[in-house]
Amino acid sequence: MLKIDKFVTLGEFIINRQEDFPYAKGELTRLLSHMSIAAKIVHREVNKAGLVDILGDAGDVNIQGEDVKKLDIFANEQFIAALKTSGECCGVASEEEQNIITFDEKLAKEGKYIVCTDPLDGSSNIDVNVSVGTIFSIYRRISNTGQKAKEIDFLQEGKNQVAAGYIIYGSSTMLVYTTGKGVNGFTYDPSIGEFCLSHPDIITPLFGKIYSINEGNYIRFTEGVKKYIKYCQEYEPEANRPYTSRYIGSLVADFHRNLLKGGIFIYPKTATHSNGKLRLLYECNPIAFIAEQAKGKASDGKGNRILDIKPTSLHQRNSFFVGSFKMVEKAENFIMKIDGNKK
Ligand code: AHG
Ligand code: MN
Ligand code: MN
Repeated sequence: MLKIDKFVTLGEFIINRQEDFPYAKGELTRLLSHMSIAAKIVHREVNKAGLVDILGDAGDVNIQGEDVKKLDIFANEQFIAALKTSGECCGVASEEEQNIITFDEKLAKEGKYIVCTDPLDGSSNIDVNVSVGTIFSIYRRISNTGQKAKEIDFLQEGKNQVAAGYIIYGSSTMLVYTTGKGVNGFTYDPSIGEFCLSHPDIITPLFGKIYSINEGNYIRFTEGVKKYIKYCQEYEPEANRPYTSRYIGSLVADFHRNLLKGGIFIYPKTATHSNGKLRLLYECNPIAFIAEQAKGKASDGKGNRILDIKPTSLHQRNSFFVGSFKMVEKAENFIMKIDGNKK
């Protein structure tokens, strides 16, 4: 890991790398810096979540007489508000909103970008103090500026993303993002209120020793998925197997660990989710963009690249295989050989 002799803040980094972003100077800076402000606010609330007994649970009224919001609702409000004030974003698709949110103010309607977001990923883990995250995906709008954002702006293939990233609220809070010129990670230093470059030019190992899948669904996995899991568990020391099973239940946390150490994350179709559980627009696509930029791979398990999938609805789900290039490739071989290409 490159030793950084002087810390570089997120703001400085974005400005230094403006030429990476092929659009007008300052637009991405404003978008990302507003996202990072919301991230700092959510960081503060996530770190208080453990005090829910004092602060009250969702639906209660806290000691300040304010309604206590579930953290995913709170995070949703913070990121939507931040994007609205950025002046660069004309609309948002959020896991927490059935329909797109369009900003009707004149400045916002001139915004050239739209954002898809999972404001709080892994929310089932909040009350047990396990890492959670926020995921975001940024596109240029297709509809003309000066009018409200349209649904077509959001139903673009993932390969059209101009930027994507996630914030992981873990032992430390990190922001990891790409604009298509590599992946960089920034660790939040609350003492100075800045995200500082801590993981420059992240490349994920071609092979890893970690496989992440919810084996509670094993009985109803397809034969191909079952055989790949057994392959991961076989005693083959010369092939660095058995792998280690690691599953947190927060996509951002599972993906981030595998990105840095090498590994594969799989959420295939299951008995309850015939198309997989993860949502294409604000979970699979942004994570896939980051994975590919870090020299990894992301597909539906049958060789269909996630970023090539044409979305047809805001909340559609997709099977998701993502991580170290050679591990995803191997898993695909099992799926395509044993399950074939049947849907
Ligand atoms: P969210 O909290 O945004 O709904 O996302 C939860 C997702 C994802 O973070 C995680 O990988 C997956 O749900 C875990 O699902 P299972 O509990 O079914 O394994
Ligand atoms: Mn999620
Ligand atoms: Mn969520």
